Amino acid sequence: MIDKIKGHIEKVKAFSSETTEDIEKFRIEYLGKKGLLNDFFAEFKNVANDQKKEFGQVLNTLKNTAQDKVAELKASLENEAEATESLQDLTRPGQAIEIGSRHPVEIVKNRIINIFSNIGFNVSEGPEIEDDWHNFTALNLPEYHPARDMQDTFFIQTNPDVLLRTHTSSVQVRYMENNEPPIRTISPGRVYRNEAISARSHCFFHQVEGLYVDKGVSFADLKKTLQYFTTELFGKSKIRLRPSYFPFTEPSAEIDVYWGLETETDYKITKGTGWLEIGGCGMVDPNVLTNCGIDAEIYSGFAFGVGIDRIAMLLHQIQDIRMLSENDIRFLEQFKASF
Ligand code: DAH
Repeated sequence: MIDKIKGHIEKVKAFSSETTEDIEKFRIEYLGKKGLLNDFFAEFKNVANDQKKEFGQVLNTLKNTAQDKVAELKASLENEAEATESLQDLTRPGQAIEIGSRHPVEIVKNRIINIFSNIGFNVSEGPEIEDDWHNFTALNLPEYHPARDMQDTFFIQTNPDVLLRTHTSSVQVRYMENNEPPIRTISPGRVYRNEAISARSHCFFHQVEGLYVDKGVSFADLKKTLQYFTTELFGKSKIRLRPSYFPFTEPSAEIDVYWGLETETDYKITKGTGWLEIGGCGMVDPNVLTNCGIDAEIYSGFAFGVGIDRIAMLLHQIQDIRMLSENDIRFLEQFKASF
C-alpha cells in the first residue's frame, strides 16, 4: 500500500497540463470528496500498527504534493492568460511605472543643505544614539544642570550614559573634537524627546545645526548668515534675534522670521503677531570651545539650530506633524513633483 502511494506521489509530481479542465479533473481525482486521497485515508484504520506512522507520513506527502501541484498549475495558467491578454491589443496604454517621491522632510533638508553649501558650509552627521558628554556635558550642561530638564530625554535604561540625542547640537561637539578651525558645517538629522505626541509635537523630529568657528567671528556674521538663509528658503529677509538662553551659547537668541500678516493663514501660523519662530542661535560659549579642544582665546564662533519638520509643514501646508511619520501613501504621493 505504501509503495502504491509512493507511486502516486511520483505521478503527481510528473503531472502537467495547460488546460483548466485537465487541472480540475486532476484535482478531483486526487483531492475531491471521492478522490484517491480520501480513499487512502479511509484505509488508515486497516494498516498494521507498526506501519501507521510511515503510512501517515507518505499519505501527507501525497496530499501536500497534490495541493501544491494544483496551485502551481493554476497560477501559471493565470499568468499566461494575463500575458496573452496584454499582447492581444497592442494599442493598449502601457503599464505605468510607479515612481517614488521624496519625503517632505527630505525635500526641505536638501534645500537647506543647498543654501548653506553655496556659502561654503559642508554637511556633517553624528549618531542618533549618543552619550552624555556629546549631548549634554560638553555643551555646558553638566550633571544636575537644571537646563537638562528643558529637554525630556529618552535614556537607554540599562546605561544612563547612553541616550537618544535630544538635539543635533551633539554633532557640533563631535565636529569640533575632530576638526580644526576654520569650521563651517551644518548637521541635519533626527532627534528625540520624550514628549506627548499631538498634531504639533512628536517624540522624534528633525533639526539642522549650523556651526561657524574661525578667528573674529561675530554676532553680526550670525545675523547676516541667518538673513541670507531665510531669504533663500522663504523669500523673507526680515528677521529678529530675540534674547534667550541656551547653555551652549552666550549670548543666545531665538530666531524669528517676519512672515507678514496678509492672509488668514499668516495670522494663524504667527498667532497674530506676524513673527514666526524657527529656531535658536548664539555665539558658541567659550566653555564649549574649550571642551572640544579649540582655543577660545584665538577662536570664536556662532551656532544655530533650526527645526526641519515645522518648516516642511509651513512650506507644504501640512496641518499635522504625525503625517510626516505615518507613511500614508496618499500623503506621500503628493510630493512627486517636488525635489
Ligand atoms: N539645541 C537647541 C534645541 O534643540 C537649538 C539650538 C539653539 C542650537 C541655539 C544651537 C544654538 O546651535 O546655538 O532647542
